[in-house]
Amino acid sequence: MSLDSRSFRKALGCFASGVTVVTTLVPATKAPVGVTVSAFSSLSLDPPLVLFCLGNGTSSMAAFKEFGHFAINILTETQRDLSIRFASRSEDKWQGVAWSAWNSGVPILPQCLASLECSLVEVLDGGDHQIFVGRVEKMKHQEGGSPLLYFRGSYLDTAPHGAMTDVI
Ligand SMILES: Cc1cc2nc3c(=O)[nH]c(=O)nc-3n(C[C@H](O)[C@H](O)[C@H](O)COP(=O)(O)O)c2cc1C
Repeated sequence: MSLDSRSFRKALGCFASGVTVVTTLVPATKAPVGVTVSAFSSLSLDPPLVLFCLGNGTSSMAAFKEFGHFAINILTETQRDLSIRFASRSEDKWQGVAWSAWNSGVPILPQCLASLECSLVEVLDGGDHQIFVGRVEKMKHQEGGSPLLYFRGSYLDTAPHGAMTDVI
């Protein structure tokens, strides 16, 4: 059966998702890299694994494959601007963006609902995307706060915030 691609996209868009900015570093220069990603999922509790999917056309694909670590920054409803910025093809995505580093150096964005620092376990072929599997090495999360949500190709707003908690 051949699928109509427009209908396929519309059907998939019926699944509401959170929004993340996935980050890493360019191995040679240590320049920060970030991409807006909604194709993120928890995978395993023990061992603690997560996954995200990156389109084959993503300019920073090589950095994600080669650096060996990445961070998942789960956005709050107030961080729509970050989502838009890191979904752009701008050369200047990081201009004026504050970030910090934990153990591996990958960018951790402030005031996210949660940030997960991961070591890369495996990259799997997934059609026109690559599936990145990572082991969570360190994380923090807010006890309260509302997520940035994406549904049928648009952002949905929800409600406000809480305090940061360092877990590992
Ligand atoms: C809400 C939202 C969710 C997205 N989710 C994904 C995703 O899961 N995987 C992906 O590869 N691109 C996703 N994109 C598109 C990328 O963010 C966009 O293509 C980005 O420019 C790619 O980064 P690059 O500049 O390194 O090529 C999403 C965009 C938006 C606005």
